[in-house]
Amino acid sequence: MAETILEVKDLQINFKTYAGVVHAVRGVNFDLKQGETLAIVGESGSGKSVTSNALMKLIPQPPGIYAGGQILFEGRDLIPLTEKEMTKLRGNDIAMIFQDPMTALNPTMKIGKQITEVILKHQKGTPKAAAKKRAIELLDEVGIPYPEKRFSQYPHEFSGGMRQRVVIAIALAAEPKLLIADEPTTALDVTIQAQIIELMKKIQKERNTSIIFITHDLGVVANIADRVAVMYAGQIVEYGDVNEIFYNPKHPYTWGLLGSMPDLENKTDELLRTIPGSPPDLIHPPKGDAFAARNEFAMQIDYEQEPPMFEVSPSHFAKTWLLHPDAPEVPLPEAVAKRIEGYLAKEEVQNV
Ligand SMILES: Nc1ncnc2c1ncn2[C@@H]1O[C@H](COP(=O)(O)OP(=O)(O)O)[C@@H](O)[C@H]1O
Ligand SMILES: [Mg+2]
Repeated sequence: MAETILEVKDLQINFKTYAGVVHAVRGVNFDLKQGETLAIVGESGSGKSVTSNALMKLIPQPPGIYAGGQILFEGRDLIPLTEKEMTKLRGNDIAMIFQDPMTALNPTMKIGKQITEVILKHQKGTPKAAAKKRAIELLDEVGIPYPEKRFSQYPHEFSGGMRQRVVIAIALAAEPKLLIADEPTTALDVTIQAQIIELMKKIQKERNTSIIFITHDLGVVANIADRVAVMYAGQIVEYGDVNEIFYNPKHPYTWGLLGSMPDLENKTDELLRTIPGSPPDLIHPPKGDAFAARNEFAMQIDYEQEPPMFEVSPSHFAKTWLLHPDAPEVPLPEAVAKRIEGYLAKEEVQNV
């Protein structure tokens, strides 16, 4: 059994604003094993970026407040650490990749220098020539053609997809144990997106890096994740092995996300349905289940009491009253049932 590298317990992050206190992350729990990829999925505004920034202690304070919980990285809680201690961890043990690669790149510095700086900082005493050689190897490893030539170019000379590869090379230069990628492919076109995901899978296999992959697109998750956490209104509402989330989803919000995935196989499928309604106001989070107002199967209790995490299997949990033993059985929405049938049919074909 792989070692647990990260354990997040009851994490709560607030923001103090003029309109009131925004409860952006409301009691998030998950863990991550060495070499594992966890995908965090949810609509825009569900708290994915706040959660991942919190892991790096990148929440600006003020307006942000670490209002509760623990972030145990290799058993040590990061929340009480000083900025100096965190600086040592960042980029060293934990590295992060963002949606816009330009936020991570210095536009006025050749990319070779940006990579060697990280190598020299993290492997102190490395001779300059060896650092350069390593940087070129890294550029090659992340799939950048002509790495020797590219070494001496500036970020603006790279395309968006190539820039994201450079950012990944910089992140890898420090040989982090944990890589957090916040929508790293969202700004890229579908082909490049698939290439970056393949690259991250390769990195994980070769280096046994643990990855937290954040996305609003459930479609990319099946390809990269071992486990999936579905976030809604600052909470994890369903959590489990990737196959259980895709084949046996239990939360109506997950059904909504699955149902709104574009079907690439079947072009006649309706394009991009969205889940009707909008997420709740996080200054005044609703009593009961935060998803109730958008849940066509909501019961009285959904408006009164917050559901607990029900265990579906030892590796699958969902926070919905529909899993209560007294709840009525509700049929899986047709779009989701059809989607699952589609996966099963595809598997049968592959297994013949
Ligand atoms: N600096 C901030 N001040 C106030 N509210 C914030 C701040 N940063 C994030 N939030 C709020 O926290 C919630 C979660 O945001 P975020 O984590 O960025 O969502 P996601 O990444 O899932 O799209 C949103 O309601 C957002 O408005
Ligand atoms: Mg985000």
